[in-house]
Amino acid sequence: MDNLFDVAVIGAGPGGYVAAIRCAQLGLNTVCIDDWKNGQGKPSLGGTCLNVGCIPSKALLESSENFERAGHKFAEHGIRVAGLSVDVPAMIARKDKIVKAFTGGIGMLFKKNKVTAIHGRGTLQKRADKDDSWEIRVSAEGKAQSVCARHIIIATGSTPRVLKSAPVDGMNVLDNAGALALQQIPGKLAIIGAGVIGLELGSVWRRLGAEVTLLEAQADFLPAADEQVAKEAYKALTRDTGLVIHTGVEISSTRTDEQGVEIEYVDRDRNAQKLKVDKLIVAVGRVPNTTGLGAEETGLKCDERGYISVDEFCQTNLPDVYAIGDVVRGPMLAHKASEEGVAVAERIASIRQGGADSAGHVDLGMMPWVIYTAPEIAWVGKTEQALKAEGITYKTGQFPFMANGRARALGETAGFVKVLADAETDRILGVHMVGPYVSEMIAEAVVAMEFSASSEDLARIVHAHPSLSESLHEAALDADKRAIHI
Ligand code: FAD
Ligand code: NAI
Repeated sequence: MDNLFDVAVIGAGPGGYVAAIRCAQLGLNTVCIDDWKNGQGKPSLGGTCLNVGCIPSKALLESSENFERAGHKFAEHGIRVAGLSVDVPAMIARKDKIVKAFTGGIGMLFKKNKVTAIHGRGTLQKRADKDDSWEIRVSAEGKAQSVCARHIIIATGSTPRVLKSAPVDGMNVLDNAGALALQQIPGKLAIIGAGVIGLELGSVWRRLGAEVTLLEAQADFLPAADEQVAKEAYKALTRDTGLVIHTGVEISSTRTDEQGVEIEYVDRDRNAQKLKVDKLIVAVGRVPNTTGLGAEETGLKCDERGYISVDEFCQTNLPDVYAIGDVVRGPMLAHKASEEGVAVAERIASIRQGGADSAGHVDLGMMPWVIYTAPEIAWVGKTEQALKAEGITYKTGQFPFMANGRARALGETAGFVKVLADAETDRILGVHMVGPYVSEMIAEAVVAMEFSASSEDLARIVHAHPSLSESLHEAALDADKRAIHI
């Protein structure tokens, strides 16, 4: 049968396409089925991340930050800019060009690695008794075909969570896709949800000139981050970026007309409030995507929140069926999805060779988080509040960017680096950063923690001068109360 594959991957986001390429590298005959269509109605590989997530948001964050620098930061360097203006359609077109290059690039990687790509929605059918292969029905534009595979990797990702009181209409009330495609700067913009998307996209449109108000349900700002980092970030994002953030609110209703959107909400003091804006973005989290996958029909087990249930190796309750990325437990991050894809591909290859022990695994406790605001926020491992709650005794080392030469040269001195280490063994338990380019700096902390480093190990490693990474060095020294430059 020419439609019988070793592996069928459903979904070509950073989980699925990476899994498919790794399977092919390991000699497995692999098909990847994906149903994403871009704004022009054309198939586009790369899933949420490449089409309407990580890549386009970072392109706009960079463009808007350049505008912010030219307008507000160049002057202190003695650079005068006159007649500064923004061409939003050009900015959006640049973002679209980057997206096109990357999504098209996956098609080329598939060809190079001999992964078969099929466009359409994949539905898992029953398993054939005679050869233990799974059948997948793939439908697109009213036509259906079947492919069969011995192993299945589900990587169907997630979709924005819907808020009944603020239905997205794609005109005035937008989700992440709409917020990345605005052709004009809204005068007033509200965002429901001060999470990762709210803060990043709020920063984009604020820097370009919109008045941005974030309405957040939780009482605390960024509760997943280290409390001290969240506090510093809140200060910088409200004072320097100019975001208005209301926490502890309850959205009552939204009403749209030609003029914009009116939001009624109850504030943290339980007073009723009204806010009139030109555009509203709803960013209240994402939900796993199992629509049309055939989960019920095949008995694929999902948990009470709709995530496909998997064990530590991403194995589902169905034989030879794995699930990875946003559709399973753990953080909804592209690099997490990709690493799970690699681990599962290696596990399948290993099983086919008669043993599973050499297969990779993904440690969710070592997952770096980055929020690309200004200042950037990044962390890995446990927060101080988590260590307290778990009764683990620890020591802290901290160093401010204000005392770092490179940060001074950049003119980006807000924030700090904090190292948390076990009080007895000195093993690093968490590293938390808020400041310039910490998205890049966090990698050193991840490597150190993966190698079970102590804070002394980091403290004794030479760091180039002047560099931002010296702040991590000094924070590690400070864990032993011997920082030099503070
Ligand atoms: P997805 O990327 O969602 O891909 C799933 C694919 O499967 C899609 O193409 C979908 O159409 C397809 N599909 C679904 N069901 C079927 C089916 N039955 N048949 C065929 N195809 C199907 N993460 C980061 O790590 N860093 C960031 O900077 C970052 N920024 C983000 C910014 C925004 C605005 C958003 C929304 C997300 C961001 N994320 C970021 C999160 C990241 O995009 C996701 O964690 C990542 O895309 C998950 O990858 P995935 O492969 O699991 O799923
Ligand atoms: P999120 O979970 O980060 O934030 C959603 C926020 O909305 C939360 O703070 C939540 O309390 C709030 N909220 C929920 N219901 C609400 C309501 N009714 N009223 C007001 N506020 C409400 O989710 P977000 O921002 O939608 O992003 C989804 C995911 O995408 C992230 O969790 C992250 O995993 C991923 N992502 C990652 C990025 C990165 O790595 N830099 C960037 C953007 C997204």
